[in-house]
Amino acid sequence: MNSEVLEKQTISLMNTISDIGAATAVLNWDQETYMPHGASMMRAEQISTLSTLMHQMLTGESARDLVLKLKETHIADQNPLMRLFVEEHDKAVKLPEELVKRVSKAQSLGQDIWKEARSKKDFSIFAPILDELLTLKREEAECRGYVDNRYDALLDIYEPGATVAHLNPIFDKLRDATSTIVKAIEPVKHLVNDAPMRQHFPGDLQMAFSKFIAEKMGFDFAHGRMDLTAHPFCTSFTQHDVRLTTRINEHDLSSCLYGVIHETGHGLYEQGFPLEYARTFAAEGASIGMHESQSLLWETIITRTEEFWEFALPHFAKYFPEQAKGLSARDMYHAVNTVMPSLIRVEADEITYNMHIILRFEIERDLINGKLATKDIPEAWNAKMKEYLGVLPPDDALGCLQDVHWSFGGFGYFPSYTLGKLYAAMEWKKIQEVMPNVHADIANGEFAGILNWLRKNIHSYGKTETPGEIIKWVTGKPLSEEEFVNYAFAKVSSVYGIQLA
Ligand code: CO
Repeated sequence: MNSEVLEKQTISLMNTISDIGAATAVLNWDQETYMPHGASMMRAEQISTLSTLMHQMLTGESARDLVLKLKETHIADQNPLMRLFVEEHDKAVKLPEELVKRVSKAQSLGQDIWKEARSKKDFSIFAPILDELLTLKREEAECRGYVDNRYDALLDIYEPGATVAHLNPIFDKLRDATSTIVKAIEPVKHLVNDAPMRQHFPGDLQMAFSKFIAEKMGFDFAHGRMDLTAHPFCTSFTQHDVRLTTRINEHDLSSCLYGVIHETGHGLYEQGFPLEYARTFAAEGASIGMHESQSLLWETIITRTEEFWEFALPHFAKYFPEQAKGLSARDMYHAVNTVMPSLIRVEADEITYNMHIILRFEIERDLINGKLATKDIPEAWNAKMKEYLGVLPPDDALGCLQDVHWSFGGFGYFPSYTLGKLYAAMEWKKIQEVMPNVHADIANGEFAGILNWLRKNIHSYGKTETPGEIIKWVTGKPLSEEEFVNYAFAKVSSVYGIQLA
């Protein structure tokens, strides 16, 4: 078989698997937006059937033959798309089907039990199934393989190439810098508040204003749409159909507006993969962390500058004339950059947010390595909350039971959120270097320059390169906390009028 035929056959198999993946994504999107509640049991069966089918096609005989030939002929070394197929196949066959089934069963049980435990504010209800999930995930890590640390095998699922040895010192330095900020703000925290965002804003106008901003950022609504959901997300069924979702709180504009900006950042990445990668494994983000960097760059950096509100305030005033009375761009800048240590991760500001992640990373790492017992999680959690943020959860629902991730065994996922922030700060520093007028562009509502830069330097790779390689090529250095720390010190100094070393 010549190489052209081999590549064609591989692409054809990827097309089929990706199409089933897209169909699964449509079912998932529908489930979270319009599906009647009563359909959930049957829908779960349908999604499970398609997922099993995808796994079988990726690990089956035809895939195995293609992989063998791609390796023999060294095509996998030369063609990034072929290499990606081989990698995905090799990862999928490492897990015995019987383990996948046991994990999947524990996951669905875990989510039900977690919901009950959270509503009863009682960790002891959740502990036995969590312990089982941890045992299964340790077993999974052994199957996946690692060099130094068992947790590395799980990190690698979400952030290819990330390791504990690499992240430990970065997260330690980030934790210390964040502590410095939290302490510095304490005496001046009354100077800044988010009252302008916490007025009454009618839901339909929130949607319209948010959609206007998403369009300005460059989201293509001819190839995407936006709908309401309980837990906002972005999904795509190819670059030609990207779905954003949001929710509305009539007494807080941030939830919808910054939620939409966040999901639009993800959506721009999804719309930006090269078309030649459509319906293949390459039409995906390089990692969860890199995907998060695309949402966070827009949500926490670009649209929280004072220049952004110089542009946005007159439009805001058209949609919300009463609410805008007497407000300046500076007021809005303060309102959207309030820093306040708090109990709940998803409500945290951009600076203290990382503490919530570092705490989870440390606990997960120790659990997977058997250095922390499941029953001791609440105590470890509360001690770290007190030490890192100076707040103490009154119960486990507001503490270690607040997030869904552990209930589906998603150990290794949390660090992606902070990696996204670090990548975003590194990208932002580079953008400001290569586009000296970027702040003026933002004040004029011109975002095309930023989007083009992202398209060229990040989006164009899709999943064909690892996040570590991409960030090194783009910024000239490997992952570091330095850019985020400098950015955070400058932001907090400017918002609170204090001087940070
Ligand atoms: Co996100």
